[in-house]
Amino acid sequence: MNKPIGIYDSGTGGLTVAKAIAEMLPNESFIYFGDTAHLPYGDKSKESIQLYSKRISDFLIGKGCKALVIACNTASAHAYATLTERHPEIPIINVVDPTVEYCVKDKSYKKIGIIATKGTVTSRIYPRKIKKVNPEIQVFQNATPLLAPMIEEGFFNNRISQTVINSYLSAKNFKEIDALILACTHYPLIKKEVERYFKDNVAVIDSASVVATVTKNVLIKNNLLSSSQIPSRQFFVSDYTKAFEKTAKLFFGEKITLKEDRIWD
Ligand code: DGL
Repeated sequence: MNKPIGIYDSGTGGLTVAKAIAEMLPNESFIYFGDTAHLPYGDKSKESIQLYSKRISDFLIGKGCKALVIACNTASAHAYATLTERHPEIPIINVVDPTVEYCVKDKSYKKIGIIATKGTVTSRIYPRKIKKVNPEIQVFQNATPLLAPMIEEGFFNNRISQTVINSYLSAKNFKEIDALILACTHYPLIKKEVERYFKDNVAVIDSASVVATVTKNVLIKNNLLSSSQIPSRQFFVSDYTKAFEKTAKLFFGEKITLKEDRIWD
């Protein structure tokens, strides 16, 4: 089915997921929506995120999307249930379930660390879901609120970012972890720095490619794969600035044009 996939995030961070989907499903069209007017989601209440998510999903489905990917951990934690209830007609993929599934499949991970926004950490979605599958696994979480804005400002792979990352990762409860989930779609950009901190002794897991694989499987299962060879990709934001276009390139890995749609007006 040659309709687009809808993908959304609070801003440009979810483009790491869009990029992985573009690589894994080169024939698929998609419409990306970054809610830059409300960025960051990490500090917002559950109610606000549900409200934003409802409006964005209506916008994307109104444009004919055949499936929806919530490319944001915070929105996945707070709004996935709301959206599946609101749009039972299309498959909806969140970033948390595929990542949890991927992690618990590897039986060698007994102590898993999580870094994420305050919203994701306080929702306790990762410990709940991991322990539901395997109560023996210990989960250690830390909110790392400086990381998303730091990366958005282009601070990664430099001394400042390494200092901030080291300071978060040196937390006492991370001393004995054997895996760390980068539970924010901004964080794939600092994966190498995180691995360097742990001297490659800890498995560092980001959700982008895991979510792309699950998206592919869901499309196959629902008979929704595109047959078109020429995909169309559109990128919307709710508040346009040149700075967002610059960071979009960082997250997507190539220059893209952002269109503004002030869906809140
Ligand atoms: N990309 C969002 C996530 O995965 C975090 C950024 C924000 O706070 O808006 O949780």
